[in-house]
Amino acid sequence: MKLAVVGATGMVGGYFIKILEERGFRADEVLFFASARSAGKIVHFKGADHKIIALDDNIYGMGINIALMCAGGEISAKYAPGLVDAGAVVIDNSSHFRMDESVPLVVPEVNADAISKHKGIISNPNCSTIQSMVALAPLHEAFGLKRVVYSTYQAVSGAGMEGWQDLENGLQGKPQKMFAHPIANNLIPQIDVFKENAYTGEEMKMINESRKILNAPRLAVTATCVRVPVYNVHSVSINIEFEKEFGMEEIFNTLKTAKGVILVDDPAQNAYPMPITADGKDDVFVGRIRRDESVKNGINLWVVSDNLRKGAATNAIQIAEMFL
Ligand code: A2P
Repeated sequence: MKLAVVGATGMVGGYFIKILEERGFRADEVLFFASARSAGKIVHFKGADHKIIALDDNIYGMGINIALMCAGGEISAKYAPGLVDAGAVVIDNSSHFRMDESVPLVVPEVNADAISKHKGIISNPNCSTIQSMVALAPLHEAFGLKRVVYSTYQAVSGAGMEGWQDLENGLQGKPQKMFAHPIANNLIPQIDVFKENAYTGEEMKMINESRKILNAPRLAVTATCVRVPVYNVHSVSINIEFEKEFGMEEIFNTLKTAKGVILVDDPAQNAYPMPITADGKDDVFVGRIRRDESVKNGINLWVVSDNLRKGAATNAIQIAEMFL
């Protein structure tokens, strides 16, 4: 088993390295790739030093079995097909292939069965979508989703190293380089570019990817995605209407036994998940569960998860583990 991490010097790449090590991923060899700028830099993995290899066409001749790609959509578009031709399975963290009908879009707790249909590329979903799916899929199965409204509170780490630096610099009074506006002491209701329908790319990802993962192409779903001045961990407020009637006890019981979910919901103790609850963890934390009293079969809930771990690296490595 020869594994490649493509984008190894980036924000998500660093988490790939850390989590592969934590989970004792059984690879005979791991190769680390980034741009030519980083060639020769050293990464530490399992007690040894590894040199970063400049990504170019030579990767196709290296006998890679699984490639974990996190160097952005353009790099995935350019190299994933060649890697597949060379016999590799590509697990891609970019959005490039996600809506391609021949590419499974997988959250292992929700639709692991989709992996068997892969033709070489498997896409890792959008970070906010992954955590929302882990909470919503078991509720969908039990009560049938009728309509979903997402409002996100997304950390700067979701924008990579440059996003992180913009917050760090902003807190020191320096200007931003990456975001369109200062992020320190501010909120930015724009993630990704605006589309013709006035939604952002991130909002459309949440809408389209939710439908694909849940295999619910006509699900009524809408989203507002907001960047917040938090370094790491995304939070999502989700308003849901169900087809079926339910008791609140059933909702709690469904989430309590859901794979990958940890309930933190005790208003009497001011207990609910926050970014500091989920930072460094692989679970999806759910709380603030309450009936939406303005509609027939509705609830509100609050879903928090580490976007670099479950929202990116952990989810991709869980997929890779299915090939061991
Ligand atoms: P590099 O550090 O050499 O630029 P982030 O999203 O955190 O900014 O990380 C992006 C990752 O993608 C980095 O590892 C970066 O490597 C890598 N990357 C960017 N451009 C290329 C490229 N042309 N070829 C290979 N890797 C690239």
